[in-house]
Amino acid sequence: LDPPQLAQAVELIRLLNCGAMSQAVCVAAQLGVADELASGPKHVAALAQHTGAHAPSLHRLMRALVSLDLCLEIEDGLFSLTATGSCLRSDTALSLRSWAMLSGTHMRSMWGHLLYSVKTGCRASELATGAGTFGLLSRDGENAAVFNRAMAEITRLVGHEVLRAYDFRNMRRIVDVGGGYGALIAAVLQAYPDSQGVLFDLPHALNGARIHLAEAGVEKRCEFAVGDFFESVPAAADGYLLKTILHDWSDEECTTILTNCRRAMAPSAKLLLIERILPDRFSSSPLHQAIARADLSMLVGHTGRERTEAEFAGLLASSGFKLARVTVTGLEFSVLEGVPD
Ligand SMILES: C[S@@+](CC[C@H](N)C(=O)[O-])C[C@H]1O[C@@H](n2cnc3c(N)ncnc32)[C@H](O)[C@@H]1O
Repeated sequence: LDPPQLAQAVELIRLLNCGAMSQAVCVAAQLGVADELASGPKHVAALAQHTGAHAPSLHRLMRALVSLDLCLEIEDGLFSLTATGSCLRSDTALSLRSWAMLSGTHMRSMWGHLLYSVKTGCRASELATGAGTFGLLSRDGENAAVFNRAMAEITRLVGHEVLRAYDFRNMRRIVDVGGGYGALIAAVLQAYPDSQGVLFDLPHALNGARIHLAEAGVEKRCEFAVGDFFESVPAAADGYLLKTILHDWSDEECTTILTNCRRAMAPSAKLLLIERILPDRFSSSPLHQAIARADLSMLVGHTGRERTEAEFAGLLASSGFKLARVTVTGLEFSVLEGVPD
């Protein structure tokens, strides 16, 4: 074997090991290790006691976190957090703890059925849970809270980028359709103090959403409307936000959701889709990896998929809209503006 061939094999081993090491990160999130280290370095014995873990095994997990640059071992058995590790804390603006917990539990069980989905074209979530994700959320409050918090964590990061990319100045009343805990509408309302919001979602998001809107200081300007976007959406707003909604659903289901939005909207209102745009052709890059991961996640978990700009334009056209503008943000999301046609 010459060194370049060996390097290729080593690279493949590294890729294959990613799943195992990401599970180590998820377990650290489940145990709350980063919250324990938030106040400063701790010895593994104290960490084990506070997190209810077996100390020698936790030590092994902590060393894995060091190898991933999430922790430092300052001296034998004494650990602290790195800047990236701090994102596993539950109480920071950059927290991804719930996302890590969701990845290591519900999503991992879906991904375990990827072969089934690739062979059949059917989602695996029904095999794993007996229901689609959103059906499951209505039956399992604890899972729903982890899911909703995970979405809010990602959306909080994306919200900044959406605000940079889009001017909401002329939108006095804005509906966040399928807005979950309201991370996006909260960011928009914080930036536009004269605007009012409606957070529209299924009942599982209601209680958590109230807490999140209050924490963001916008609860007086944002009502929560419970409903089903396959039936109708709240009427008479200037703006309708749909962040990572259409990617969950098939073309037919998307057309129903969009047609219901169109029915609720005045001719001057705008519809904003915040979605990843599928490239026409993939290459090897972190951005394309992120989009491919999301696309496969939709394959195993939902009836949807990621779409190209032309596919979004087609969906909008079949629901009474035209695609007016597309703005790429600094993260993997774009803002697609639809206007009534
Ligand atoms: C992928 S999450 C996106 C949440 C939020 N827009 C975000 O990006 O953070 C999809 C959301 O759609 C909501 N949803 C699913 N089916 C729905 C329905 N039939 N009517 C209203 N909301 C629904 C879910 O409850 C969930 O909050």
